[in-house]
Amino acid sequence: MSGKMEYVTCTAPVNIAVIKYWGKRDEKLVLPMNSSVSVTLSQDQLRAKTTIAACKTFSNDKIWLNGREESFDNPRIQNLLHEVKCRARIQNGSDLDQLLSWKIHICSENNFPTAAGLASSAAGYACLAFTLAQLYKVTGDVSDIARRGSGSACRSVYGGFVVWNKGENIDGTDSIARQILPHTHWSDLHILILVVSDQKKHTGSSEGMQKTVQTSELYKQRVKCVPERTDDIIDAIKNKDFDKFAEITMKDSNQLHAVCLDTYPPISYLTDTSRDIMTLVHRYNTFKAQNKVAYTFDAGPNACLYLNEADVPGVISIIEYFFPPTSQSQHFITGLPINTRAIEKEFISNVTIPIQPDGLKYVIHTTVGDGPRVCTNEDSLLDRSGEPISP
Ligand code: DP6
Repeated sequence: MSGKMEYVTCTAPVNIAVIKYWGKRDEKLVLPMNSSVSVTLSQDQLRAKTTIAACKTFSNDKIWLNGREESFDNPRIQNLLHEVKCRARIQNGSDLDQLLSWKIHICSENNFPTAAGLASSAAGYACLAFTLAQLYKVTGDVSDIARRGSGSACRSVYGGFVVWNKGENIDGTDSIARQILPHTHWSDLHILILVVSDQKKHTGSSEGMQKTVQTSELYKQRVKCVPERTDDIIDAIKNKDFDKFAEITMKDSNQLHAVCLDTYPPISYLTDTSRDIMTLVHRYNTFKAQNKVAYTFDAGPNACLYLNEADVPGVISIIEYFFPPTSQSQHFITGLPINTRAIEKEFISNVTIPIQPDGLKYVIHTTVGDGPRVCTNEDSLLDRSGEPISP
């Protein structure tokens, strides 16, 4: 290969919504029907990593995702790339004409299962937007660029606590994410992701939300009550009011799954195990006489639990009791270590849900984290000729 190669590697985090985005008012621009709020998770446990190389001698644009070459004709990628190039031209004039005309190679990988309802597209598209912005020297907010890839991705361009304002403009210029507070504001907020299934979801979010908007009567009601909830949860976050934060989070998750069931034909993402987790959380909160844990579910059966660090030993003991791992037990809990247990015998003996050996695949323990990062060249996923470095 001859000719100079420009390349850059970045990482971006996963975010889990506490006020859910579900439904678009514009499919092409990816404009939502309602605002949403999320928590960005630590990249130490969950992140997407992307290297992009640009070179005069590349003959085609190419993309590799998690070790497999995929089609570059994906409209979401095209849409995002178009947007970032437009921004680069506006900001840099003709300085970048040459670089912008070169073909690119993109290599991206997640350090967690893709399409398992773990918001992999959010981290992936946020990372793509952020890395392209680095390559093309685009400065300022890139959340609207990430949004072109996947709506929820716009929230992963910031760390901590994030709101995606739905915006009013028809061109989507005000449909952007902003940070409410950084991760340091509430660093003892921990997250347990209970992986019920690591299979690909049966109805993708884009398709699911489109059907909900078209057919659900209940959805009209949801859209009306989200603004107040959004304001309330932002206040709860600012005040670190876990009790309120948990109540709103759970109510919003339940409402999302209610409108999914009200979709015709109905969509059900939750399984019996998901519902048992919900029951356990409510029973535990009642036992403790205040909300100690909050669950939330995206377009899949996996639960994301929010809780304060001090409550992790008690809650993990309950999870291990009701969902005892029988195989691969040494990998049952991944992420941040949990060194102590606090078995609450009185609670366990009063709960009647069945014990389900291997009911969970595994648990990821993490915390709130920061936004996308630029890596050094040693972290590159592409070699000097622009081909993927095999792991
Ligand atoms: C349930 O962002 O995956 O996770 O914009 O069509 O790509 P598209 O949808 P996507 O939807 C996420 C839906 C959700 C809720 C949320 O993250 O807010």
